[in-house]
Amino acid sequence: MHNILQMSSASRSVFETLTARLAPALAARCAPRDVDLFLLRLECYFEDLYLPLVQLYGEYADFHQQFDALFDQMLDAYAARPEPLRLLDLERQFMPDWFQRPNIVGYVCYTDLFAGTLAGVRESISYLCELGVTYLHLMPVLKPRPGANDGGYAVMDYRAVNPALGNMADLQALASELHAFGISLCVDLVLNHTAKEHEWAQRAMAGEQEYLDYYYTFPDRTLPDIYERTLPETFPDFAPGNFSWYPELADSGRWVWTTFYEFQWDLNYKNPTVFREMVDIMFFLAHQGVDVLRLDAVPFIWKRMGTNCQNQPEVYLLIEAFRAVMRVVAPAVIFKAEAIVPPDFLLPYLGIKTTVGKQCELAYNNQLMVLLWSTLASRKVTLLTEVLHHMPLMLLGSTWITYIRNHDDIGWAVTDEDAAAVGENGFLHRQFLNEFYTGTFPGSFAKGALFQYNPVTHDARISGTTASLAGLEQALAKQDEHAIDLAVRRILLLHSVIMTYGGIPLIYMGDELGLFNDSSYLSDPVKAEDNRWMHRPPMDWTKAKSRHDPTSIVGQIYQGLLRLIAARKSAPMLHCLGLIQPMWTDNDHVFALSRSNPMGRLLLLANFHESEQLVRANLLKYGGLSGNIHNLLAEEILRLTDEYIHLGPYESMWLVGDE
Ligand code: GLC
Repeated sequence: MHNILQMSSASRSVFETLTARLAPALAARCAPRDVDLFLLRLECYFEDLYLPLVQLYGEYADFHQQFDALFDQMLDAYAARPEPLRLLDLERQFMPDWFQRPNIVGYVCYTDLFAGTLAGVRESISYLCELGVTYLHLMPVLKPRPGANDGGYAVMDYRAVNPALGNMADLQALASELHAFGISLCVDLVLNHTAKEHEWAQRAMAGEQEYLDYYYTFPDRTLPDIYERTLPETFPDFAPGNFSWYPELADSGRWVWTTFYEFQWDLNYKNPTVFREMVDIMFFLAHQGVDVLRLDAVPFIWKRMGTNCQNQPEVYLLIEAFRAVMRVVAPAVIFKAEAIVPPDFLLPYLGIKTTVGKQCELAYNNQLMVLLWSTLASRKVTLLTEVLHHMPLMLLGSTWITYIRNHDDIGWAVTDEDAAAVGENGFLHRQFLNEFYTGTFPGSFAKGALFQYNPVTHDARISGTTASLAGLEQALAKQDEHAIDLAVRRILLLHSVIMTYGGIPLIYMGDELGLFNDSSYLSDPVKAEDNRWMHRPPMDWTKAKSRHDPTSIVGQIYQGLLRLIAARKSAPMLHCLGLIQPMWTDNDHVFALSRSNPMGRLLLLANFHESEQLVRANLLKYGGLSGNIHNLLAEEILRLTDEYIHLGPYESMWLVGDE
């Protein structure tokens, strides 16, 4: 040991006792170099693991047994780590910015809707490569409960693949083939809840105290009623309240905490055994070759009376501990937080303003997504620019997932304060957005639907695919060539912003072809009540055939995206590390964003209006560009007229100078 890190003397003494205990077992199971590596990593991350665990569980009588058991698990998992993945661990430690580079482009899909099965996804790797994808998020692949399962987010076995998609060997084979093509694999880890059919829940149901302790259950309404006073409802329409009554539970019946659907039982992380169970599942998935674990609904994993039971300080401690465990055993694996929460709570998931470099590497930039849709509807970039001004710098080890659509609804995360800062009324703006995207606002181009409308507060969220919300479905129905052209431009404009903002841009399956809302879910009783299925259409491989034809609508979207992706990969200043600086232009319809790092500067200009717009050329100077100015998207030198830059309808430019 080289004492490479400062540790408090108390931590060091625990660390030393621990390593003395582990050393013989390690030496018996691993080659000497691997023993060194384990101990080195353990030393690096020891306090990230130990200190949160003490805070979370230190008071418990069995803390030391739990702690020892955790290290035995880590040792077992380390010894079992497959050889090619050990190499990947090293590779990524040499290249810690592997997920922050401009060559990374993401794609997200449901396995069945994209290619039928995991084997089908393997056969479609060439499609992903053609698009330039280097990161693939497969929506829930683990074995769900039978029947309704919230799109796979009700898992009954974390160690088995959904049999309709294949088996664990297929997942492994897919992961290794993806790696061979330079694509990393992200899968969902539903860690807030299990399906009520999971073995743990079944054993709780049968009254086994050990498993009752895995969940939050209550004999009567006393505590649930107190909690409900401050708890919001996630799905008020089809799963009102946060607790469900099971008359058969533990004989006399009990209430179970079910934040989402009744069949999704919230896990109790106050129980350290639950923490250790989840650690084992993480190891298991890591060893199949998974690169990114999407921590589903992570804000909800700690409950505290009198609060909304989201983003509690203990959530961040749990992530810190999970991450430290993974850094030691499988450092190739990173975490993605699915935390659709206000910025003040979101940033700590990336370690910003709290534990730098100790939280998730990735988090969804929900606000950017929402603001893009808001801007498209209002044609005014003021709110977007104002809010992005407050986004903090990315830190060394983390970055955003930037996206336009995903499988969930769009919730209008525009605060009253932000709206007021640009002279808008937050409530009215959110109402406007709902009317706009359901197509009821006069002149709206969008075709979407309300999700979870609350008649009391008038709050609602929106469902719909990118193409339908951006106007393509309506334009095509009207056979209006001009409107079709504008809709295609809108789709590309939004992608242009997520490709430059900084982070991993994630293309939602089918958006590259402009797929529309799909109403087939209505005839499936298991899906019919949840209109999020309208924006989860199956892949249209017939449409995909015209992707190379630049005269087709599909071809225009697809080729446009290819141009954006190629430009992104050629622009080193789009590496996530660097400045992300929104700029005010003298035109309320044109958004400007300056990206810079020691490798250069890029100025994004994005016209959110359907007519041509001008901005003053002195913006280039403020954006730090000089010399001949090239537009990377048009492969030409920018021409100015009377000191103005001309942007066509919904045009975006990626400008770089040659000096
Ligand atoms: C996440 C998923 C969503 C699911 C919920 C409950 O928010 O994205 O689809 O309904 O978690 O698991």
